[in-house]
Amino acid sequence: MTDPLTTELLDVALEAARRAGELLRDGRPADLGVAATKTSPIDVVTEMDLAAEKLITDFLAERRPDDGVLGEEGASTEGSSGVRWVIDPIDGTVNYLYGLPSWAVSIAAERDGETVVGVVTAPMRRETYHAVLGGGAYLGVPGREREEPRERLRCRPAPALDQALVGTGFGYRTERRVGQAEVVRALLPTVRDIRRGGSAAIDLCDVACGRLDGYYERGLNPWDFAAGALIAREAGALTGGRPGIPASGELTVAAPPGLFEPLQRLLDELGAWHD
Ligand code: IPD
Repeated sequence: MTDPLTTELLDVALEAARRAGELLRDGRPADLGVAATKTSPIDVVTEMDLAAEKLITDFLAERRPDDGVLGEEGASTEGSSGVRWVIDPIDGTVNYLYGLPSWAVSIAAERDGETVVGVVTAPMRRETYHAVLGGGAYLGVPGREREEPRERLRCRPAPALDQALVGTGFGYRTERRVGQAEVVRALLPTVRDIRRGGSAAIDLCDVACGRLDGYYERGLNPWDFAAGALIAREAGALTGGRPGIPASGELTVAAPPGLFEPLQRLLDELGAWHD
């Protein structure tokens, strides 16, 4: 049984994600350009990232005025309720800029520091993933997520490492990419194949629904993985960083038990946690 506050947070997250997803899908200008850059000249922000974050934060301020907010494009408020929202208005901004379909709106709600709700909507896939801590992970059509029958997500049974399809991603800074390329060079001959989809939130949901066996990345921010990691865990995956350490910007790994351990061990040995 989910308590009333968590149910409310899920409803708010689903509605905010639906509205932002529609704005981004229907309002993308044909001549969309780069509005600003962040950690490097290829780490871009579009006017639509800013518009979607504003839509979400305005909606949260109206529905949950006492909550804290952390957003990729700068939203940052403390809040007094013990609830904090962690928002990526477009996860996969480079895909969105180029008109590739793999981008998502990612919204997580934390209570007293623990992620209790995760929503990832991928409008061009007509898919919304959501999870509540202890309540399982589900896949639905945007706006109709609560309709029965709901598709409960289960990650794929663990294959041997050499049969695993593993997703990953790369940071935007050259120095970091040099290290990430070294790790992929060593990993590629030991697994079935590697995928680089361009949205960490979708990669984690792909682990949850069995489209990937595992996923790892160094350098993620909380807004990239908060919602997707809960969805992956609620679908049966394990998530973490280096052995014994929770997932973080240092390293995020997700895979079902049986694959998680050898993948995490190998990534640790290969130095996937440092530049
Ligand atoms: C990025 C995506 C990408 C990952 C990068 C992230 P953004 O998020 O999740 O897949 O490889 O590390 O920064 O910038 O599109 O929100």
